[in-house]
Amino acid sequence: MKERIIMIGANGQIGSELATALRSRFGAENVITSDIREPHALKEDEIFEIINVLDKSALKSLFEKYKPTQVYLLAAMLSATGEKYPQKAWDLNINGLLHVLDLALELGIKKIFWPSSIAVFGPHSPKQYTDQYCVMDPVSIYGVSKLAGERLCEYYHHKYDLDIRSIRYPGIISWKTAPGGGTTDYAIDIFIEALKHGQYACFLSANTALPMLYMEDAVRGTIELMDTPSEQISIRSSYNLAGLSFTPAEIAEEIKKILPNFEMSYVDYDPRQAIADSWPASIDDSFARKDWSWEPKFDLASITEDMIANLKTNV
Ligand code: SER
Repeated sequence: MKERIIMIGANGQIGSELATALRSRFGAENVITSDIREPHALKEDEIFEIINVLDKSALKSLFEKYKPTQVYLLAAMLSATGEKYPQKAWDLNINGLLHVLDLALELGIKKIFWPSSIAVFGPHSPKQYTDQYCVMDPVSIYGVSKLAGERLCEYYHHKYDLDIRSIRYPGIISWKTAPGGGTTDYAIDIFIEALKHGQYACFLSANTALPMLYMEDAVRGTIELMDTPSEQISIRSSYNLAGLSFTPAEIAEEIKKILPNFEMSYVDYDPRQAIADSWPASIDDSFARKDWSWEPKFDLASITEDMIANLKTNV
């Protein structure tokens, strides 16, 4: 079957790179990107539409215009910004998802991708090697909305047979498009500041280990999940997915191997620390490995090298 994809929230950190991969895979004419704002740059053959996912009738018109077979819903408010605007975060993260799920049923859209996050875990979840199924008591509104979203996805799959797939992304490290308002953003800021100023004041403490993933792995993993035959997908809430785990102190050491004069300091207080403290330090992703042969490629040394090489020419 010929696929036609609509991506919502395509200007963001993940969307901007996932869209490029999908365009080269399915052809630019079959991937329609959309966002609430105009993108920075658009190539001649790229199709883009302005859309607010909370405007359900505009979203319906967009779907009727392009008749997608797949929708990637990436519009969301992340953890740190969510704490500033909890109602808006809930509204965007939940009602945006419900609009897409309901329109998918109404218009017969076959396949949906929706990202969840490690933020679905909380202080009573195991810290190390956190299991797919365990106590989940998220403390951030972002985590609360993502966990509710996961339950909705599984519900729509079981009740209506909607083919929805999802990944609990860890912090995603990339150099092309900056993330907006996440707790894991330090792992990108650190490279930019190291190159620009030779120093970085980290908003998380030295020993805060968090699960992370390099963008190239994230894009490949997402496409691999979407390619997997439906009967192999045993999880319809959202898959745990691991890349690597490290602390601010460890990434600083790795950067120093390439930029020996780099200096790291730590701020006394930042509200993002409490969010990070409630999240896992590492993730057990054995379901993803078993169901769709997931395997990350990048480790801390290769990420550091690649980030510095690419950002050097861009900051
Ligand atoms: N990177 C996200 C955040 O920090 C986690 O999903 O909010």
